[in-house]
Amino acid sequence: MALYAGFNTTAVHAGQEPDPLTGAVIPPIYQTSTFVQDGINVLRAGHEYSRGSNPTRNGFETQLAALEHGTAAFAFASGLAAEDALLRAVLRPGDHIVLGGDGYGGTNRLINGLLGPWGVANTAVDITDLAAVAAAVQPGNTAVLWVETPSNPLLGIADLAGWAKLAHAAGALLVVDNTFASPYLQRPLDLGADVVVHSTTKYIGGHSDVLGGAVVVADRSFRGRELAEAVGYQQFAGGAVAGPQDCYLAARGLKTLGLRMERHNSNAQALAEWLRDKPGVAEVLYPGLPEHPGHALAARQMSGFGGIVSLRFAGGAAAARAFAESTRLFALSVSLGGVESLICYCSEMTHASVRGTGLAVPVDLVRLSVGVEDLVDLQADLAHALERTRGFSSNGVMLHA
Ligand SMILES: Cc1ncc(COP(=O)(O)O)c(C=O)c1O
Repeated sequence: MALYAGFNTTAVHAGQEPDPLTGAVIPPIYQTSTFVQDGINVLRAGHEYSRGSNPTRNGFETQLAALEHGTAAFAFASGLAAEDALLRAVLRPGDHIVLGGDGYGGTNRLINGLLGPWGVANTAVDITDLAAVAAAVQPGNTAVLWVETPSNPLLGIADLAGWAKLAHAAGALLVVDNTFASPYLQRPLDLGADVVVHSTTKYIGGHSDVLGGAVVVADRSFRGRELAEAVGYQQFAGGAVAGPQDCYLAARGLKTLGLRMERHNSNAQALAEWLRDKPGVAEVLYPGLPEHPGHALAARQMSGFGGIVSLRFAGGAAAARAFAESTRLFALSVSLGGVESLICYCSEMTHASVRGTGLAVPVDLVRLSVGVEDLVDLQADLAHALERTRGFSSNGVMLHA
């Protein structure tokens, strides 16, 4: 019988066994590029060179694969490096991707800007509309369906079991970016997805002190090859691996993911409820609110609603910009998922690359990454910033100073 089954126990122990040599409770950081051989190609513990394998990276990969219920995980230098490696492992020129239209702008830039010139086409779809997803599939060409849920920054909720059915009917893979939910709140592989990707920079690292990404695969084959083998080869041959220090930080963050997510959830829920009737706030986007169109679905496929809240302002872009520039605790920055609260004006920051396209983010929208600080302080900070937006009319004109 397995020694443990719970999420938090797995997070603390999977792949994180004490060092057998010294008994150190925390496995050491193997800061080495190469490993001594006892004879030509006689490897002491299977390690030859850290691009191929490194014990610190492997420990983190084991920990994450266990939490996502995957067969194997692969750690990369950033979320986009992970996405790039995955796509180049499974796609061929001439392939087509059905791409969730509401998602991280950098993913869109990767797929259009880097893969486009290599002959990979894509169609963007509304992630909440399964009929639109079905209509976008090109039989024989579509190799990947890619979706992010909750989405960034509109907090749309996609029906993962429905997306998986459509992907498999077309002989395609379903890839889910699980960065916003984290494995603590959502396990896409259990819902039928084939691959999960993460920016481990966000909730997994959890402290805004490391960049990283990961691919986690289910036990599936595609085009006659095991997914784990295809992605593992890409990681080794492409070489965009995460270094040992970064893997150590990500593994340490992952141990407290469950504790942090509980606090992110409760702070975000309380702030979303508090914000929705504030003057000047036109709409609060948060799947934990009963009026959110994806609320019932999120309640079914997630075990909490997460730490990201987006707001739209009646006073338009001017009010949203003034709000984003007026908080003092919420730091004006890109990124999310750390213990500290952040605020972002997405249309000109994280999503500037899709400005002017059909995927542009509304200019009256501000995204909050709600941290783990005390609710009373976060509320006071937002109340102060709301005061600064009071004078804007619906067309963004300042009515009085
Ligand atoms: C949902 C999501 N996926 C992927 C990425 C890309 O990750 P990274 O910045 O680590 O390359 C981000 C970054 O913001 C993100 O928010």
